[in-house]
Amino acid sequence: MAPTPGISSSTLPPFFAYQDGQLMVEGVSLSTLAQQHGTPLFVYSRAAMLSALAAYQRGLAGRDHQICYAMKANSTLAILQTLVQAGCGLDIVSGGELERALAAGIDPAKVIFSGVGKTRREMRRALEVGIGCFNVESRAELDVLDEVAQGMGLRAPVSVRVNPNVDAKTHPYISTGLKDNKFGIAHEDVVATYRHAAACGGLRVVGIDCHIGSQITEADPYLDAMDRILDLVETIEAAGVPIAHIDFGGGLGIDYRGDTPPAADTLWQRLLQKLDARGFGDRKILIEPGRSLVGNAGVCLTEVIYLKPGEHKNFLIVDAAMNDLPRPAMYQAFHQIVPLSQRPGETTTWDVVGPVCESGDWLGRDRALNVQAGDWLAVLSAGAYCMSMASNYNTRGRAAELLVDGDAATLIRARETAEDQFRLETLLPTL
Ligand code: LLP
Repeated sequence: MAPTPGISSSTLPPFFAYQDGQLMVEGVSLSTLAQQHGTPLFVYSRAAMLSALAAYQRGLAGRDHQICYAMKANSTLAILQTLVQAGCGLDIVSGGELERALAAGIDPAKVIFSGVGKTRREMRRALEVGIGCFNVESRAELDVLDEVAQGMGLRAPVSVRVNPNVDAKTHPYISTGLKDNKFGIAHEDVVATYRHAAACGGLRVVGIDCHIGSQITEADPYLDAMDRILDLVETIEAAGVPIAHIDFGGGLGIDYRGDTPPAADTLWQRLLQKLDARGFGDRKILIEPGRSLVGNAGVCLTEVIYLKPGEHKNFLIVDAAMNDLPRPAMYQAFHQIVPLSQRPGETTTWDVVGPVCESGDWLGRDRALNVQAGDWLAVLSAGAYCMSMASNYNTRGRAAELLVDGDAATLIRARETAEDQFRLETLLPTL
């Protein structure tokens, strides 16, 4: 038995707080939502997303810029709609994301298309609707895009994604700007690639791009990457190819467990100082934040199904699992787990696990909680890379999603049924 931990509102993300022992998001009690909609259930705060966006908007105020939300972080239509209505463009990485972006009402000119494996079909569709920029990741892709655009009588707007070879000091799976990563064109090949692109009849060079990783909690990797990119811009322009915009990617981390990433506005103040000092102050800036806009705006509610105390480990079996929250299983990621109703008394140390038939199906290890079967818990900081990475493993339907705005909660995705899951399948004809 461990003493009751002080879960105070100060350790919770903004817009989440305990009131009379009940966990609230904005003006709504999460227990009420769990009661009404069942669990597992994702709940997002609109105010939290807009406030995260506002930090970037403040940081970049007065500059020619476009914030392109990296929609892979959470691509639910109403989330996209909220950010698009607040002025965001979108960073996409597939034809599917393009269709979602269009369905959410984006102006295609504010869409940029990243990713190492764009197919001809995806390129054609993106050109047809008139997206703002292709972030090209290899010479082979550049040539295919040139061919596809020429075939349509168009010039594709392109930016070359540079691999600046800087260490983002993050988990190896989410570090993207090192030489050994599959992303971007190596620093030393970039100028030749631009010369080549400028000579292609189906391409129009509009920018340069980099993205060095995700969950970055320090400013230095950004400052280093900026220096390297600006060095390149100088050389590329000296070679006669003008670069209208510079895209610094996404990657800014959030607080999962006392992490202390720089605030978006402070980070950008520092980056803009460097940009000014190097004489690029009037250049159009693009950024591609994902996690930092939505990560701390969402929680996943789950019900405790069984307590399974053991000799070496105590297991708390809950109704959310690795198919809903894949980050712990994939990256050993830490998410805070807190009760929706605070219960006075002693806590016990539990491993919080899901019902999926894998030992990797855990949500949190060694968590001090005072709970009983039937209690609800919230997995915090679950707004990014949870629902968008959710699967149907074990034929588990994906969770429902709610968006809270003040005192109101709107269902933005209904719970997936078993029939939804096998709708596209066919039984063999009986003999
Ligand atoms: N731009 C590009 C080209 C990217 O590849 C990514 C993320 C972003 C922007 C947005 O990065 P963010 O601001 O969200 O860090 N599933 C992992 C994260 C994978 C990130 C992939 N790329 C996780 O759950 O930690």
